[in-house]
Amino acid sequence: MLSIEDNELLTRTHSGTPMGNLIRSYWVPALLSEEISAPDCPPVRVRLLGEELVAFRDTQGRIGLIGEHCAHRGTSLFFGRNEECGLRCVYHGWKYAVDGNVLETPAEPADSDFRKKLRHTAYPTHEANGIIYGYLGTREKMPLFPNYEWTQVPPEYAYVTKNLLECNYLQGLEGECDSSHLSFLHRAFTNERNQLLYKSDTSPDYETEDTDFGVRLIAIRDTDSQHYVRFSAFVMPVYGCVPAGRPTNELEGYEIHTYVPADDTHCWRYDIGFRRDRAVQDDEVHRRKQINPDYTRIRNARNNYLQDRQMQKTVTFTGIEDFLNHDACATESMGSIFDRSKEHLGVSDKAVIAVRKFLLTSVKELLKGNEPPHLVRDGERNWFPHIDCFAHMLPRNVPWRQHFDYLTSAAQKENPASYTARRKAAS
Ligand code: FES
Ligand SMILES: [Fe+2]
Repeated sequence: MLSIEDNELLTRTHSGTPMGNLIRSYWVPALLSEEISAPDCPPVRVRLLGEELVAFRDTQGRIGLIGEHCAHRGTSLFFGRNEECGLRCVYHGWKYAVDGNVLETPAEPADSDFRKKLRHTAYPTHEANGIIYGYLGTREKMPLFPNYEWTQVPPEYAYVTKNLLECNYLQGLEGECDSSHLSFLHRAFTNERNQLLYKSDTSPDYETEDTDFGVRLIAIRDTDSQHYVRFSAFVMPVYGCVPAGRPTNELEGYEIHTYVPADDTHCWRYDIGFRRDRAVQDDEVHRRKQINPDYTRIRNARNNYLQDRQMQKTVTFTGIEDFLNHDACATESMGSIFDRSKEHLGVSDKAVIAVRKFLLTSVKELLKGNEPPHLVRDGERNWFPHIDCFAHMLPRNVPWRQHFDYLTSAAQKENPASYTARRKAAS
């Protein structure tokens, strides 16, 4: 459990809050590229960390992520005209550049230089493989954009979906760091190999280790003769990385599930996936079918996730369709912001506890003025092969640390070719 004070500390992310400042120290997903797909297309609203913003792509393709409300008298720039390299307010025609400069104030006298004294809220952006990331922190402390594997593969090797989760971000994030729910929440009553593995041992042993990027999470399940070892990762500040794809010895890529606060009672879940050596096939992104054009989910709390009680008896543990909705049901039904002083944690919550501790330590260190972990300032250390997430069958007498001895932060300095060779040899 957490004290009420620590729960508040971790769950409040508006401007000026400690956790809000911590998350603002990093680049975080702000919207999908497809939301502003072409120069001069309509702007979109972006709700992020309690801030009301709009995003637009100007005539030259540059991206603006700026305050929604016009600096003049507050009209929403969502209704604005995106034209000739700027976003123009519909009320009196003030026009904004992507960097927040006020380009024109046509209702003012022609010789007025009033606009030059103004600076509208505007945040830096970085676009990579379908996502526009934003940096909402102090400009002088802006880190490098991290070269995660999923941002570096060719665009057709990666996919991303986004949907609104109607609860605090931490509930979603903790779900990603909790391997034991796979034996229940996502169970299907089939003989598919993964399902049998999750069923064979419903109380996995957990190991966790703090790393340069966050926490590595290792869940170990016993089968008759082997260990089924599943590597996941919590990556600062709001990424849960999980194995995905084939049941065992999966080394061709993984999934990243991100929970970016929209405000304290809603967050954006981005599901990112990538393959290392081939294009993604459409049917691999099955959850697209679960999401409405406005990024809400078809199955949601108001329709009880369209739970089918007959299906629950015979087909799946929940009677609800798709992993995405299982997770949403489990985490949204805890309430908008769960009071963790009321919970009862067991041994199966070891990974959740480790992640909370990492976040609490980071936020408390930031309050003391110390820099948060995993801010990239050194171009040479800007690749993260050791985040790797996969599942593997190992003989019982072989410790995972011995077999996967390359899973250390030293990999950041290693030649990519030799690292890849070591990884393949262990698979
Ligand atoms: S409120 Fe936007 S120009 Fe007046
Ligand atoms: Fe899940």
